[in-house]
Amino acid sequence: PGLESKCKKDECRFKLESFLSKISYVSGDYSSLETYEKLGRSIENIESGRCPEAGRIFYLSTPPDLCSQIVSLLGASGLVSENYEGMPWRHVVIEKPFGHDLESAQKLDRELRSVLKERQIYRIDHYLGKETVQNILMLRFANRIFEPVWSHEHIDNVQITVAESVGVGHRAGYYEQSGQLRDMFQNHMLEMLSLVAMEMPVSFEADSVRNEKAKLLQSIRPFPIKDLSSYIVRGQYAAADGLAGYTEEKGVAKDSQTETFVAARLFIDNWRWKGVPFYLRSGKRMGRKVSEIAVTFKKIPHSIFSPIRAEDLSPNVLVMNVQPDEGLSLTIQAKQPGPKLCMGSLTMDFKYKSILEEEEFPEAYERLLLDCMLGDQTLFIRNDTIERAWTLLTPVLEAWKQNPALCPLHKYPAGSWGPDAVHALPWMEKHVWRELNI
Ligand code: BG6
Repeated sequence: PGLESKCKKDECRFKLESFLSKISYVSGDYSSLETYEKLGRSIENIESGRCPEAGRIFYLSTPPDLCSQIVSLLGASGLVSENYEGMPWRHVVIEKPFGHDLESAQKLDRELRSVLKERQIYRIDHYLGKETVQNILMLRFANRIFEPVWSHEHIDNVQITVAESVGVGHRAGYYEQSGQLRDMFQNHMLEMLSLVAMEMPVSFEADSVRNEKAKLLQSIRPFPIKDLSSYIVRGQYAAADGLAGYTEEKGVAKDSQTETFVAARLFIDNWRWKGVPFYLRSGKRMGRKVSEIAVTFKKIPHSIFSPIRAEDLSPNVLVMNVQPDEGLSLTIQAKQPGPKLCMGSLTMDFKYKSILEEEEFPEAYERLLLDCMLGDQTLFIRNDTIERAWTLLTPVLEAWKQNPALCPLHKYPAGSWGPDAVHALPWMEKHVWRELNI
């Protein structure tokens, strides 16, 4: 019905009807080989009628612990067998989470590879399909003006925020096992960080891009476990303004210690980023839905505009708005019109909506599914980056479990910007979080 109401025009209605007429389904038990054989017969029926050499995508949006079993039965039933040249192709899309720690991710990978070749595996992170996330690479590497200033020489700090106004909703079963670090940090947040901070790849080929992402993740300084609370703050939303607290949500344990908010201060130990703090925060039930990457440049070293001192001038800030107001903005200092010398901040704002109609705005999944059909893995995750992300975060998860006092779970009011303790993280470097309440 949602699609239908969007499809008001005749042409669109025709496309929708034609699309829907091609859909059929086979129901069965995940764990029974018979289901896969039935599915195989059904696919063959479709293919023999229309397209005998068709490629196939198997999209696993299933509970994570069933993934290996399903792939193993897809293998046993011959559904994912390709000939030696990989034609007709058989691709398997796998939704996160890829394991729940380093060990389980490695095990999952061994199991997947015992059935599939790497070129058949499409580990999906829908953030990589978002227009603005893809634009990070274009902005950095298709423009001359950013690369020379993209380092510790000119950048003061980088902040990545992914805030959601929704709570856990009806996903408590999954989320209680996962929490925000696994649900958002291990994947979306670290993927965005790698795109912002990685070196220039040799080409825009899948492996060149993914090699650089893996190198970047490898350069992130491990969190010092003994001093964890100076680097990571975790929180859980509490009831406020008529909104339920996390532990009152359906399916959540009353004494749940699952975090719904995480903020981190991290450093990248390489030449480019020496000493530049990266602040990452992500949470549920926050002030509003907003995802953005803000790059704050250093202040000018000297001001000729006496009596205005260099330290009194606001720094340049480049903001990549990932959602909901997709776009880019750059804040600069400029003279305010008038006879006097008055300086003020001016923001140059580009919004995708100014060049695209709402319905033209591509959905992340559309782009990723198309890439999967075309056999382009650039925007899909390779296993080594997953393992590097887990190498960084597994010690944190273990510390939270074994010694919770090291990094206490702070409550924050639903609808706020996280626990008070979060302000201490940037303040250690005399920074503050960006104000996002606008
Ligand atoms: C998913 C997480 O990967 O991303 C969800 O599992 C989260 O918990 C969602 O709500 C956010 O995606 P988006 O595109 O709405 O920012």
